[in-house]
This record gives sequence, structure tokens and C-alpha cells, in this order.
Amino acid sequence: MTVPPIRLGINIDHVATLRNARGGPHPDPLRAARLAVEAGADNITAHLREDRRHITDEDIARLIAELDCPLNLEMAATPEMLAIALKTAPHAACVVPEKRTERTTEGGLDVVGQFDTLVPVVAKLVDAGIHVSLFIAPERRKIEAASRLRAPAIEIHVGPWCAALAEGRSDDAEAQWRAIKDGARLARGLGLEVHAGHGLNYATAETISALPEIVELNIGHFLVGEAVFVGLDESVRQMRTAMDKGRETLRQRASARAGLA
Ligand code: PXP
Repeated sequence: MTVPPIRLGINIDHVATLRNARGGPHPDPLRAARLAVEAGADNITAHLREDRRHITDEDIARLIAELDCPLNLEMAATPEMLAIALKTAPHAACVVPEKRTERTTEGGLDVVGQFDTLVPVVAKLVDAGIHVSLFIAPERRKIEAASRLRAPAIEIHVGPWCAALAEGRSDDAEAQWRAIKDGARLARGLGLEVHAGHGLNYATAETISALPEIVELNIGHFLVGEAVFVGLDESVRQMRTAMDKGRETLRQRASARAGLA
């Protein structure tokens, strides 16, 4: 079995959160993005929220104009964000649900209930050549709806799994992990590209990198937090190492299986 490479996307929202705490230009998310790429990131993710609490329109314009790697624009499926995506034409767009009152993206997109609203949004983004992913929980109905929406990719919301592990809720963590594994397999079987994100740290990124269907992780808060202690380049490097270890585990499992066959 050939093991596909796995991309690391770094979410730089919280560099902007820190900058905005003082209202000046420092720390600059573009500088952080460049550093992350030098340290091993494959792409950069930025969430332009309706309330512009971290990333701003100007950040998006600068990232698109000046960054030497693909930009993944996280966006709500609103007319305003759709217009911005079509105008700025990022390499990729991850469609997420958004509530003003939430601290971070709380749940996955309701692709079943919002199906009719999402049809034209996905179609316009895809027609503009933007690589669309839908951020969803690993549930069969949602994965099938994402496939019917003709999005090329999904990003599995792994936040509940990461939270269950962090809080020692092992039965829940196990159930969540099973759902992620089954969901990734189902999605891949339907021809979807499978990404994962939310709440990942070194340990969970290593574990999930051992799933062959997952080809991209998007990680932000933990890495920007770790950067306080070890620097952003080192935290990105350690993340890359963790993911490579996960892929190596996958390779070993695959060759052990081939040996048994
Ligand atoms: N993927 C999506 C769709 C997200 O909304 C977020 C959070 O902005 C992330 C990945 C990154 O999550 P975290 O900051 O917890 O690593």
C-alpha cells in the first residue's frame, strides 16, 4: 500500500488575536505564516469571521498577495463571505458554521439541514476553482450530504475526540475515535478528500496521521500556545515530526499486513 503524504495547515488566527489585543501591527500574522512555512507547514489557514475578531480583510489580502503557499480561507456560508472568497480567490476554502457568541467554531456544519443554502455556495466556490472543504462531524448522513453537495473535500471536526481525551472521558474518546475512523473511510469511499482539524496537539496529531484516508490536518491554537514556550518554528517542527511518526506507524502496519497476506 502506498501511503499518501499528509499536509500540515497552520491556522494563524490567534497570532491576529494577540495583535488585536493591542491594536497595533505586532505580531504580524503574515510573518507568522512565513515562519510556519519555513518550519514545515504546507499551507496556511485563516478564518475571516463576520465580527473580524482576529483575521481582517487586509490580512487576507496580504496573505494572498505575499504568501508563497496555498491559503485556506475559513468562512461561513454567508453572502458577504462568499463575495470575499470569489473576489480574493484563495487556493482553498473551508466552509464552517459561525456564531458570534462562540469562542471558537463549536460544532460542524449542518450540511443536512442547510443543504439548500449550501448548494449554490459550494457550486460558486468550486466553479471559481477554489478547493472547497466542508467542516463536518463524522456522521454518515453528513458525509453523504457533503458528497451530494459535490464538495471535493471534507474536514472532519475532531474537537469532541480531542476534548474527550483531554478530559479523561475514555469511553467517549473511544466512541469518537471509532466515528472518525469510520467516517474517514466512508468519505474516502465516496471520493471525498479527507482533512481533519480542531483541538489537535502533538499526541492526537500523531494518532490521526496513522489513518490513511486523512491527507491534511489544520492546527492553530495549540501551536500558537506552544510558540510562547518554544517558538513558532519549533512548535511547527515538532508537529511535523509527530505527523511523520503517525505516517510511519501506518507504513509499518501496512507492511505487517502485507507480510501476513
Ligand atoms: N479547522 C477548523 C475548521 C477550525 O474552525 C479551526 C479553529 O479555527 C481549526 C481547524 C483549528 O483548530 P485549533 O485552533 O483548535 O487547532
